[in-house]
Amino acid sequence: MADFKQLRKEIIAKTIEYHQARFAKKEFIPGKTRVNYAGRVFDEEEICNAVEASLDFWLTEGRFSEEFSEKIAEFLEVDHVLLTNSGSSANLLAFSALTSEKLGDKRLKPGDEVIAVAAGFPATVTPILQYGLIPVFVDVDIPTYNIDVEMMRNAITPKTRCIFLAHTLGNPFNIDAVMQLAEEHNLWVIEDNCDAFGSEYKGKKTGTYAHLSTISFYPAHHITTGEGGAICTNDSQLALLVRAFRDWGRDCYCAGGENNTCGKRFSQQFGQLPFGFDHKYVYSEIGYNLKMTDIQAAIGAAQVDKLPGFCDRRKENFQNWTKIFAKYPDYFILPEASENSDPAWFAFIVTLKDGTPFTRDELTGWLNKKLIETRNLFAGNMTKQPGFVGKNWRIADHLNDTDYIMNNTFFLGTYPGLTSEMFDYAEEMLEEFIKQY
Ligand SMILES: Cc1ncc(COP(=O)(O)O)c(C=O)c1O
Repeated sequence: MADFKQLRKEIIAKTIEYHQARFAKKEFIPGKTRVNYAGRVFDEEEICNAVEASLDFWLTEGRFSEEFSEKIAEFLEVDHVLLTNSGSSANLLAFSALTSEKLGDKRLKPGDEVIAVAAGFPATVTPILQYGLIPVFVDVDIPTYNIDVEMMRNAITPKTRCIFLAHTLGNPFNIDAVMQLAEEHNLWVIEDNCDAFGSEYKGKKTGTYAHLSTISFYPAHHITTGEGGAICTNDSQLALLVRAFRDWGRDCYCAGGENNTCGKRFSQQFGQLPFGFDHKYVYSEIGYNLKMTDIQAAIGAAQVDKLPGFCDRRKENFQNWTKIFAKYPDYFILPEASENSDPAWFAFIVTLKDGTPFTRDELTGWLNKKLIETRNLFAGNMTKQPGFVGKNWRIADHLNDTDYIMNNTFFLGTYPGLTSEMFDYAEEMLEEFIKQY
């Protein structure tokens, strides 16, 4: 019989060869090659890891999940990292953990209010509605696209129990103000770090300040596992709760394939079950199965090594777009990093000034026709989305800037796959468009 270790070596050698043949760098042809806003950036390491994990055929959480989560914990300097199957699941799980009865009076309950913004991605808001709490939408400011701190202060009521915000497109929100307000009013804070993995605030990584934070590994994000996400926390109790909600709601926290980690598997009383009921099958939360597979984690374990380099490239690409758009100060409001921050930009976000002789859609229509991909700031004004109209949310004061963003804002990519030829082409195309006015 063939030696499987030898076969494995041969498969990996062939995989490297395959990567070179299949994913060789392609020439950029202006007007023919797409200038995407995002995309996977990888080499043979990711594919080899995926193949290794497939050959292991462990499939569910295993050695690669351990490696990937440890590397994230090391990068962010956090105590607990739990992998999940998407950034949306990460947000759901972070929020779910705060609803647990194990938190006593501190737990989030239906009818409580949560500070949120409407200019963002729906997954930062949907868990709030799902659990019957009330998102209180606060306006954002342009050009940071993050929550307006004064308005946030005024939006707090005796019912406010939590602040759940994303660092918009990698630009950190005012973390000092948020954490101070949370301390004053005894609020939970969740940082949706899905678009900001690698951003810094006051020299420390975002995703490390709040009670819980989340990451997305969807291909548009800083690193990818295809689908995937993670929840980070320094709080051991919250980590256990996230794990319970992620793993069917079960009380037991044994790793896959292990038994009796707590040493009390058959000697505890739970709910109304008979004494000594198998702890492995005790469900203390209303949970799901939202775990990541080991194949995804294997890809992530290779991607995360590249993260510091990716973040540098995102910052450079942000500067490249700045040079291009700064040529037209009459038309464009350029993005600004929040005070005390060093964003690993998810994107370059632009707003048209009032009175500009063309509309956002005319410009983005032109760019997209020229194969330069743009996106709006996700949902625009979430309260106007069909799925959100009539739901139980509240607007604090007004959403004037959010509405302005819905109509006048778009973003371009900063992902590491962009090249200098692409920027030269985009610069030319923008100039051609502007010349018409
Ligand atoms: C801020 C933010 N939060 C959460 C998510 C959801 O992540 P996922 O697509 O992995 O579910 C996204 C998606 O891109 C996002 O931009």
